[in-house]
This record gives sequence, structure tokens and C-alpha cells, in this order.
Amino acid sequence: MAGLLHTALDIEDLRQMARRRLPKGLFDFIDRGSEDDVALRHNRAAIERIKLRARVLNDVSDRDPTVTLLGQLQKLPLVIGPTGPAGYVWYRGEIALARAAAKAGIPFTLASTSNTAMETILKEGGGRQWYQLYVWRNLDMSMKTTVRAREAGFEALVLTVDSIVAYNRKWDILNGVTFPVRFTPRNVWDALTHPRWLIGTMGRYVRAEGGLPRYVNIPVLDNVSLADATAARHPHSDLDERSPRVSEQVRPISGWKAQRL
Ligand SMILES: Cc1cc2nc3c(=O)[nH]c(=O)nc-3n(C[C@H](O)[C@H](O)[C@H](O)COP(=O)(O)O)c2cc1C
Repeated sequence: MAGLLHTALDIEDLRQMARRRLPKGLFDFIDRGSEDDVALRHNRAAIERIKLRARVLNDVSDRDPTVTLLGQLQKLPLVIGPTGPAGYVWYRGEIALARAAAKAGIPFTLASTSNTAMETILKEGGGRQWYQLYVWRNLDMSMKTTVRAREAGFEALVLTVDSIVAYNRKWDILNGVTFPVRFTPRNVWDALTHPRWLIGTMGRYVRAEGGLPRYVNIPVLDNVSLADATAARHPHSDLDERSPRVSEQVRPISGWKAQRL
């Protein structure tokens, strides 16, 4: 991967490399938003409106971008946020991200929907690692994950409080994208026509683990299917009404201290 990255001169180059390598469905899942992409365009426009004012003829020999976060000094004021499909994009992509974060001296956040055991990512990725939690309607599932993450040694728990209502992602529906994966003629063709990804990512899971990537960090409860379990955070106001309560409940049982960043 390092060799490839050297040929990318900016983020758009990286985006085009990803577009060529990944199946369209996976690329669109990452690259696009919901409905008509209005929020995506607004976010981009808002970032592009930020201007940096150059102050010339100043001594810049000791620039210091370090910042203290959760009581620890880090090299940059950045954190790698959780991205569910990291393990689908690259074989054990979560470990690659954690290593990159460690090298840059910043924390990495592991998504609930990751594909390698959280303990393995923590050990092999190194550096500072945080764990992201979705609060599912079945609170037992969330609590199990929370306790497991703390026992594994994650530094912090990142509680995701959006995604409470279902979103309408047109491209995912058109491309036949579902997590966990359900095969359709369209997504099978999409995968077959992207052999570098099929062999380089999926093939490696099959060879190493005997099957396609799974949500190995989501506790499976006897009476809940994985699809129901992972969908359960979305659809209802019952979660909406529970959210404040949930953070109150998660904290004392699992032993994390609360802090708003
Ligand atoms: C492809 C993709 C997957 C994401 N997956 C998750 C996730 O699994 N859990 C989560 O809490 N946030 C997830 N997010 C949200 C990001 O962590 C982040 O909060 C969001 O993208 C805003 O940061 P940005 O402006 O730097 O993109 C995801 C975002 C993207 C684009």
C-alpha cells in the first residue's frame, strides 16, 4: 500500500484509486450520502469556506500542533473516527488504520461493526485506541460490547448518538449494498468486476479465516438475529427517548468516566 500511496498527490488522487479498486457499491457507500446528498454538499461547502490567513515574516521554526486530549499529549489535533466498512475496504483495514494513527501520534477509534476481534486490533494495531459504541435497542448487546472493550484495554468509549432514525440511502439500495452482505446478481457482478479487491481483500479473509468478513465484535444474543440486532438502533423513537438514559446506564455498569469532547 505504501508504494501506491506515493503516487497519490492529493486526497482526490486517493479517492480515484479507491474508486478503481473497490466495487461500485462499496465505493458509493463510503463516498455518497443520503437522499440527494444535500448535507454532503453543504458540509463540503462549509469546509471550503474556511480560509487560512497566511502571516508572513514570522518565525515558524517551532510550530507546535500538539494537543492534550483525555489527559494525554498527542502530536496532532486529530483523531481517526470510526468507519464501519474499514475491514471491507482492506484486509484487516482496522489494524492498518490503528497502525497509521499510532505512527502519526493520534488516537484511532474502532467501529462497533468491525471485522477483526477488538483484542487483536488493539494488540496488533498498537497506539491509543478508542472503541465506538452504537446503542442498540437491546441494551444487553450494548452493555456486553462495552464491558468487553473496557476489559480489552481500550482507552475510551465513544458513544454514537446519531443514526437514531433510518436513513434513505438511494445508492445503497440501487447497488444492492447491505451489511451484513446479502448476495444479489448486481453485487456479485460488481465484486467479480473488481478482481484486485475481490482477491486482495475478500480472498485474503477466505484464505485466512475460512469465510467472508463478519461483525465479530457484536455480541450475538440467542433470540436476536444479527440483521435485526444491527438494524435495531435505527428505526424508533423508543431509542430516541431512551438515549439520555442509556448514557447514564452505560457509564456506571461498565466503569467508563464520561467526558464531552
Ligand atoms: C464510510 C463511513 C463509515 C462510518 N462508519 C461509522 C461507524 O461505524 N460508526 C460511527 O460512529 N460513525 C461512523 N461514521 C462517521 C464518522 O466516524 C465521522 O463521525 C463522520 O464521517 C464525520 O467526520 P468527517 O467530517 O471527518 O467525515 C462513518 C462515516 C463514513 C463516511
